[in-house]
Amino acid sequence: MHAAGAVIMEEPCVVEHTATLSARDFGRLSRFIYDTCGIKMPDVKKTMLEARLQKRLRSLGMHSFTDYCDFLFSTAGMEKELVPMLDMVTTNKTDFFREPDHFNYLTQTVLPEWVKRHPGATLSIWSAGCSSGEEPYTLCMVLSEFALRNPGFDFRILATDISTRVLDKARTAIYTESQVEPVAMDLKKKYLLRSKDRSSGVVRIVPELREKVRFRRLNFMDEDFGMRDQLDVIFCRNVIIYFDRPTQERLLQRFHRHMKPGAYIFMGHSETLSGLNVPLVSVYPTVYRRPR
Ligand SMILES: C[S@@+](CC[C@H](N)C(=O)[O-])C[C@H]1O[C@@H](n2cnc3c(N)ncnc32)[C@H](O)[C@@H]1O
Repeated sequence: MHAAGAVIMEEPCVVEHTATLSARDFGRLSRFIYDTCGIKMPDVKKTMLEARLQKRLRSLGMHSFTDYCDFLFSTAGMEKELVPMLDMVTTNKTDFFREPDHFNYLTQTVLPEWVKRHPGATLSIWSAGCSSGEEPYTLCMVLSEFALRNPGFDFRILATDISTRVLDKARTAIYTESQVEPVAMDLKKKYLLRSKDRSSGVVRIVPELREKVRFRRLNFMDEDFGMRDQLDVIFCRNVIIYFDRPTQERLLQRFHRHMKPGAYIFMGHSETLSGLNVPLVSVYPTVYRRPR
């Protein structure tokens, strides 16, 4: 009953339709994601996957996950939708100077020895799973500082990721003030450019650092990484955590082939290689080395 005299406006209630992911479609997608990029998708990830892929359904004007799966697994879908789907599925959390003791170990232990052994050579370093560029640009700053103290030292950085969305962001090299907060003030002054429009709240990495990094799309599940050269240092941090043990082992064996004798690989703080059948030796917490 409404209060006497009250006027009730009858307006249509607009309920946005959100598709739900059935167990069958989740099974199709999770198997495919695991096979394509190694990322494990146990049942607990169903809600997350559903939420992330809603955006793809909306932009394709689709109303059901079954239609989406049928399209994705078609020839046209494999051509057009595979990359955007993988962009949604990957977790890209990263930071400048993430896990900072790694950068200290690099400059205080790894590089001084490397410079002695390779006078005049160029250090080649790979940020494998580089996300939106914070890790390779941090390396750039740290290595540039080392170069100032060690004339003659030079470096180049390869930075790869499976996600084209984050690679595009990395190439622009534009970050918000809050994203660059972990960068020390003296490094900010040297290596970050302020926008002419001070109110924009964004900064850009200086061109001299940008030109040191080559970004490229690379899927760790590919048999051939398309690399001829071996590397001196690999950073592959907070990536293998998304893979199961057999996938981790296969990937580390492949990394090992791309490491020079004596090369180092840095893993994320929660990632251990212990128990994996890979000839790498632990030299520091979550840092491993290929014996000479
Ligand atoms: C959490 S981020 C880590 C970024 C950075 N290394 C760090 O520690 O801050 C993991 C990155 O690995 C990438 N990745 C996941 N699976 C991959 C695969 N199969 N091949 C290449 N990159 C992958 C993701 O796209 C994501 O950007």
